Amino acid sequence: MNVNAGPAAATDPPFTAAEMEHTELMPNYRVDLRSHASPEYQKFISLNPVHDWSLLSWKDVGKPYEVKSVAQDRKAWEREHGTSMDAHTAWTHFNQSFHQWFIKDVPAEIAKEKAEFFKNLKAFNFHQIREGIGDVVRIHLWNYVHRIQDGVWDPRGKRALFEGLDVQKPRILFLGAAEGYEAMQLAAMYPGAEVVMVDYDEYCRTTRFVEFPDAYPFLGANPRTGSPQVYYKHDFNIEYVVDDIRRLPFGREFDIVLSVGLLEHFPDEIKPEVVDWHRRFLKPGGYAIMTTPRNQLRSRLFYQIMADVMNHTYRELMTVQQMGLYIYENGMDICRHGYIKVHNGVVARIR
Ligand SMILES: C[S@@+](CC[C@H](N)C(=O)[O-])C[C@H]1O[C@@H](n2cnc3c(N)ncnc32)[C@H](O)[C@@H]1O
Repeated sequence: MNVNAGPAAATDPPFTAAEMEHTELMPNYRVDLRSHASPEYQKFISLNPVHDWSLLSWKDVGKPYEVKSVAQDRKAWEREHGTSMDAHTAWTHFNQSFHQWFIKDVPAEIAKEKAEFFKNLKAFNFHQIREGIGDVVRIHLWNYVHRIQDGVWDPRGKRALFEGLDVQKPRILFLGAAEGYEAMQLAAMYPGAEVVMVDYDEYCRTTRFVEFPDAYPFLGANPRTGSPQVYYKHDFNIEYVVDDIRRLPFGREFDIVLSVGLLEHFPDEIKPEVVDWHRRFLKPGGYAIMTTPRNQLRSRLFYQIMADVMNHTYRELMTVQQMGLYIYENGMDICRHGYIKVHNGVVARIR
């Protein structure tokens, strides 16, 4: 189904390239038109730490860290059904839960949680206070990670990872697209792109993608001059397919196959198949781009505190060396790799 995001907005776009280097906090996200090449951002990027992938072994790099905490609603579902939750159902729970956080007016929510907390404190309502502390911690953590630090979308990190690809008007396939953020960032950088987003959770097409803010500015390039240009969701040519990646009818027809937070949801015996999902739809010379969350202390803490929001599915945290080795071992050469704020990123081509 084709879901071009609708006609161009009737009102003037909120930002243009004249606002380059501008950043601003909105109630539910950060606008960031700053260059990723600024020294202030560069400290979050480390590119190409591995010189020769053929010399790396699992003995050197170890295995990923498995996140063991599980969301309460998954546990409740499993008690009720007397069976373990299947992956598709788990993703539908995850997407509905995670989406609620992207649409929150965060400052208003913080004020509400604070008022609630003091109301319960005054009433000596200790049960509610205990419950409320979790909510207060989670909203502050979300404010910091997504809004202040912009670690989830991380436009500057994504631009650093995606730059310099040898493609013109690329066809881009986004596997497990959710709201589709990264494919839109790529489409801004490579104008004229044709994007196919795929997710087997219908809610991603009907809600996560549709409710992605129309006013969010993506910094990209002007196709004629190469100078900076700002794009919005409605500027992109997007088809959103609701289907299982394993059933896609496409051939080797894409210049870029992309996934963000997919590989780490499969145990080692399935990872070769997941790498193959990226390879099988690529034109000769095309690029596979993958990112996965980093294994760092603050990320382990994040998934612990946000367990009820995020942990419906099997999940690992890994290093870029581990991630690159899965990809290298499964027939791809690594063109660029590294880490940005909270994710590892790899750009690879078929060997
Ligand atoms: C962790 S999410 C991607 C992260 C995303 N950036 C977000 O904000 O949620 C992975 C997505 O892949 C989808 N997915 C997982 N397995 C799939 C499959 N076999 N076919 C299609 N979609 C799949 C899930 O429904 C989910 O929306």
